[in-house]
Amino acid sequence: MRTAAQPINIKVLLGDEEHDLVTYKGEYRSLMMLLFDRLYIEDFGECRGVGRCGTCLIEIIDGGPSLEAYDRNEEMTMMRLGHDTERCRLSCQIPIDDDLNGIKIRVKR
Ligand code: FES
Repeated sequence: MRTAAQPINIKVLLGDEEHDLVTYKGEYRSLMMLLFDRLYIEDFGECRGVGRCGTCLIEIIDGGPSLEAYDRNEEMTMMRLGHDTERCRLSCQIPIDDDLNGIKIRVKR
């Protein structure tokens, strides 16, 4: 018997707005694709997930996956942008997975 996918709830701060998004594991390739598709953020995710443009930057305010999972592109881009805080990530490098449930993030502009 197949079990139903569990909803993944993500709170997003974008400027003065707060959005509550619901998705499911595997619905989007990455957190960037979810934000791009649902919130229509201008100039967001320009390299479409290669990890080089830095336009998909987010700050993790509460909860979320391990922040030590930088890959090489992400690490280089973060250094180039001068964002070396542990709470900032490229959303294109974060897969949609159950461990995102309950996370609160801010889209950096
Ligand atoms: S989409 Fe370009 S770095 Fe994430």
